[in-house]
Amino acid sequence: MTEASKLRLSVEWFGDHIEVIDQTLLPGREELRRIDTVEGVVDAIRRLVVRGAPAIGVCGAFGVVLGLQGTRLGTVCSARETLESVAVRIAAARPTAVDLPRAVQRTAAATADADSAEEMIERAEQEALAIQAEGRESCRLIGEYGRRELAGVTRILTHCNTGRLATSGWGTALGVVYAKAAAGEPVEVLASETRPLLQGARLTAWELSSAGIPVTLVTDSMSGAVMASGRVEAVVVGCDRVARNGDTANKIGTYTHAVVAHAHAIPFYVAGPLTTFDLDISSGNEIVIEERPASEVLCYGGRQVAASVPVWNPAFDVTPADLITAFITDRGVLRPPYAESIPRAFENGVRP
Ligand code: MRU
Repeated sequence: MTEASKLRLSVEWFGDHIEVIDQTLLPGREELRRIDTVEGVVDAIRRLVVRGAPAIGVCGAFGVVLGLQGTRLGTVCSARETLESVAVRIAAARPTAVDLPRAVQRTAAATADADSAEEMIERAEQEALAIQAEGRESCRLIGEYGRRELAGVTRILTHCNTGRLATSGWGTALGVVYAKAAAGEPVEVLASETRPLLQGARLTAWELSSAGIPVTLVTDSMSGAVMASGRVEAVVVGCDRVARNGDTANKIGTYTHAVVAHAHAIPFYVAGPLTTFDLDISSGNEIVIEERPASEVLCYGGRQVAASVPVWNPAFDVTPADLITAFITDRGVLRPPYAESIPRAFENGVRP
């Protein structure tokens, strides 16, 4: 088992371009994509070439730097105009994960006092690198808090992909798994395949098996059967946006796992950094859920398998807070009542 530090990051910065592992091609092909324009950043985020809430935040932050680099020879005023439009375009690439607009705004805000376009670029670059480094440390902390919380638990069901591909560290929900493995504790993962884009089957199964962690794949519709069978001791998933009351948006299918876990008295954990919590919204009703093209549901392996009928394809669902046993965050484990524990976690100068 190798910690993410010894592996390639899913998003890497090279001073004038970004390189990402093209997640649309995994596990068949492990290819890097070079991105050197804002359009390239928006396209990569929209097509899920890069995906996972923290990873799209980091990619968006470096996208702001790329956008500013084109203004190097101009005035501060023109650089600020460019910055504004670049930030809006990148932040709108996907609507649900709060990490994206937050990282973009933070990178843009870091340039506020700069006296020249050159200085704006430097400051934005430093901020984007800081976001990436903080993300890595957050993963380490989540892993450690989660490992302690789940002491004695071996069989974990997870959904989607929340590992090194989705973050700048070793992951959130999968960070807990990696932390257990790194500590020499027994751990086995049941990965649900995550229709329609198969992040569980294509990415989590690949990531964990490459790391030597036992992983068994199930389809999403096996959720009830697998939990009824006694094969699952805890469910641990990631998050894209957590409201102030604890309602949580995550990959479509998460809510089903939460309901089934509740029915079987299996603890259901959400792992994520505080950067994925949005105190500006009071409940999950306010979370904008991305709807994706019908072709993702109609087709399988590049071939249409369904009749040509209308499709509803929300990329995320909202799990109500009362189905969540606890949040494993980079500030520790948050327990109900979340209306109290979540705001408290942001005290003491924590930067959201
Ligand atoms: O559409 P995706 O693949 O970007 O969705 C990803 C998820 O839902 C993850 O669970 C979430 O972003 C957390 S990643 C650490």
